[in-house]
Amino acid sequence: MEALTADLSDVVGELPRRLLVAGGAGFIGSAFVRLLLAAEGAPQITVLDKLTYAGNLRNLEEVEAHPSFRFVKGDICDLELADKLARECDCIVNFAAESHVDRSILDPDAFIRTDVYGTYSLLEAARRHHHQRFLQVSTDEVYGDVEAPHLSVESDPARPRSPYSASKAGAELQCFAYHATYGLPVLVTRGSNTYGPFQYPEKIVPLFITQALDGGPLPVYGDGGAVRDYLYVDDHALGIALVLARGTAGSAYNLGQGDPPLDGMTVARSVLQLVGRGEELIQHVADRPGHDRRYALDSAQARALGWLPLLDFERGMGRTVDWYQRRRDWWEPIKSGEFLEFYRRNYRPLEGAGTGS
Ligand code: NAD
Ligand code: DAU
Repeated sequence: MEALTADLSDVVGELPRRLLVAGGAGFIGSAFVRLLLAAEGAPQITVLDKLTYAGNLRNLEEVEAHPSFRFVKGDICDLELADKLARECDCIVNFAAESHVDRSILDPDAFIRTDVYGTYSLLEAARRHHHQRFLQVSTDEVYGDVEAPHLSVESDPARPRSPYSASKAGAELQCFAYHATYGLPVLVTRGSNTYGPFQYPEKIVPLFITQALDGGPLPVYGDGGAVRDYLYVDDHALGIALVLARGTAGSAYNLGQGDPPLDGMTVARSVLQLVGRGEELIQHVADRPGHDRRYALDSAQARALGWLPLLDFERGMGRTVDWYQRRRDWWEPIKSGEFLEFYRRNYRPLEGAGTGS
């Protein structure tokens, strides 16, 4: 954390002084807030968050007493609230979203509402109050399935294939329209698959770690051959800060770790090795409908701004497993009630194999 903070101190002075951070109680948003508030000369930060199942005030405990921090509970779709808060700030960074692909397949409604309409609501507030910047936190999933050996570049067309990625692409298009039409200085980041401390245990890395710690099954979709670029959360947060400080308005920036992407079986084996469990815990389950087989990014544009991810997968996973080992107090209460209901709805046996029940 010290090394990342030292890097950030160079750019913190270049940031707008009053940030509205929507979705700042979630996984990446809270890492961004903790990172900025740990730096000297940190800006004023207002977090606006609805505290859905994925939002958690415990993610912000470390900064709750910081003089430059305040928290407002609310919905980004509330135009009046967005307008009121935007009046008191000069920049919005929008992390708020429904973020899990599998949930978007079961229930797309909230994705369209928050990711599409909610982004419009924030754009409108930023436009009215002549904000200096608007940064939309988007995803590499907007490119859709990418055939090897191509690395997606920012000018590639959006070909989203899940309700989640389509909602994120819709949000991006609105951002670019606000830039072209109203001259709003928007920036878009397209981050890759992010992992690290404080991640709700529904995504592959925290799900597999917490399952392995409890000796439970690791449900691998299909053959486990789909690949992703895995990015440590503090590196993602640092990339967003750099783009916010130095990016060119109207542009998108890929943020990927950059090593060859890894498949699901490799992630499962890495977790089991770090936790000290055997491969008998791996359970192949029915594949995700419309599962994108490959994402891979060329992040040269962000690198040119000075961004360099500091942790490779091995070191990032070491830190992450260590955190989940120490912080059962954080994740054990989450893996109950609502989480178990989602788990039962989502995971189905692999056809003909009778597993995964
Ligand atoms: P997350 O699900 O952990 O957090 C989302 C946060 O948004 C939560 O705190 C939630 O309470 C809040 N929220 C949801 N709906 C809201 C609403 N209507 N109003 C106000 N707040 C609301 O998500 P994350 O993994 O931290 O992702 C943050 C952003 O980064 C998302 O926009 C996501 O699309 C994007 N992203 C995520 C990843 C990843 O791997 N996790 C990678 C690239 C991009
Ligand atoms: O790439 C960026 C995206 O990464 C973000 O935009 C999303 O918000 C984030 O959720 C993440 O999406 P993915 O679908 O790539 O992440 P997830 O962790 O759900 O899945 C990663 C890979 O692991 C994918 O190939 C599916 C597989 N998987 C996932 C789960 C949850 C499994 O095999 N088993 C599982 O239980």
